[in-house]
Amino acid sequence: MSKSSALFGLAAFCLLFSFAFVAGLQNGVGQLPAMGYNTWNDLRCHGINAANVTKIASMVQSLGLQKAGYNYVNIDDCWNVGRDNFTHVLLPDPKAFPEGIKPVADFIHQLGMKVGIYTDRGPLTCALRAGSMGFETIDAQTFASWGVDYLKEDSCWASINHTVAFQQYGVMRDALNATGREIYFSLCGWAPWYAPVGSSLGNSWRTSPDVNHWPSMYQSISIIENNLSQYAGPGGWNDADMLVGSGQGEKHSLFLLCAASLFTHSSFSPAFLFLFSFYKIGSAVFVTPDQSRTQFSLWSIFSSPLLIGTTLSSITPWDLTTYTNKDVIAINQDPMGKAGMTIVNTCPKADVHAAAFGATAPVPACYQIWVKELFNGDMAMVFVNFSPIATKVTCDQACLVKGLHKAMAARMKGKNANGGIKFHVLNLWSHKSEGVVADMSVALGPNGGSEMYRLRPMN
Ligand code: GLA
Repeated sequence: MSKSSALFGLAAFCLLFSFAFVAGLQNGVGQLPAMGYNTWNDLRCHGINAANVTKIASMVQSLGLQKAGYNYVNIDDCWNVGRDNFTHVLLPDPKAFPEGIKPVADFIHQLGMKVGIYTDRGPLTCALRAGSMGFETIDAQTFASWGVDYLKEDSCWASINHTVAFQQYGVMRDALNATGREIYFSLCGWAPWYAPVGSSLGNSWRTSPDVNHWPSMYQSISIIENNLSQYAGPGGWNDADMLVGSGQGEKHSLFLLCAASLFTHSSFSPAFLFLFSFYKIGSAVFVTPDQSRTQFSLWSIFSSPLLIGTTLSSITPWDLTTYTNKDVIAINQDPMGKAGMTIVNTCPKADVHAAAFGATAPVPACYQIWVKELFNGDMAMVFVNFSPIATKVTCDQACLVKGLHKAMAARMKGKNANGGIKFHVLNLWSHKSEGVVADMSVALGPNGGSEMYRLRPMN
């Protein structure tokens, strides 16, 4: 080998070496937010088994969800029963997955989809199954050998010290990379402080506690609103948690009402009144069809992963129409990979400290306008009303221009946008053109009513 080619080789090696270690995550996946289904909100720990997962995968296909872009079928907590004493390999629950995970993964792959699995960076998962702490290499290799394409790593029973958390996620990231298989890495630490470093560790990072009813949905929105958009981009996304679906929410309150009613025979007894008020509190947090649609619009403008958590065998026609809206999905999957931000926000700043402990405050009476820049120069907009009364929200010419500037700061620099800009407006839910406008005034329903548009600047 000549001296110059040896030098060239050394330089190339150094370049590759520094790239691998400076850039952190370079796994080539997650160029767009992930779309798929996750078992947690649907099956929890009770119905998680091979028969159900394969049935669900077939439904993702037959319901037209796969065609709409949903291509991950993700198995969440409760699939394992511990480790083999000698090999330390994780053991799938033999009753639920008698043939193991691989045949389930093969089935999902044959349908043309990808498969996800779940672990935890602590010694146990949130539902007390075996976690990966200390076994990252062997677990990553096991998952790769099963054909896993997506790994969600939770944070129960693990340190909340930021440095320790980043270091632990780094260990799993490197273990996944070392398998040579392309595996989407989904961090689940339920906190906004992952966002600034998230893209060096994984392909998405959970920014909030679990979203499973309307107040927790609002909480997740208010956390993203806290300047997190800047951290999202191709390869790494803010994960605002799973899609909930109409009619889902706190089922415990209803369950308690039913259970306790067995002991209560007089409808006027104090016990009944107490239980009735409990039911009212419980029912108030069930997600309405409008809130379900609003979640989809906002998650799309956030560029959050879109992971369906609803029971597919009983999905409502409304939710199916919502989740397969091509125009809205196109906003989520826009190739430029920007994330939306607010131009109008009358809501209080998120109490990130309270959120860290899973507290969900009542939803305040406020509204927001979100904008997101799209690759072709269009701007996506969501108007959303959190107040309990219907509200008209206006975005005048200055507001629209601010949106354009904010969404497209680079493009608009130096241009005089104040000379009056008109926009062609497409309503992404009615799919109808709303003509050419210089300002907008939008009537919004109460408690999470929203509208979503695609605007094209005309001059
Ligand atoms: C945590 C996560 C959820 C789910 C459960 C499983 O709560 O945030 O998304 O994975 O654990 O136990």
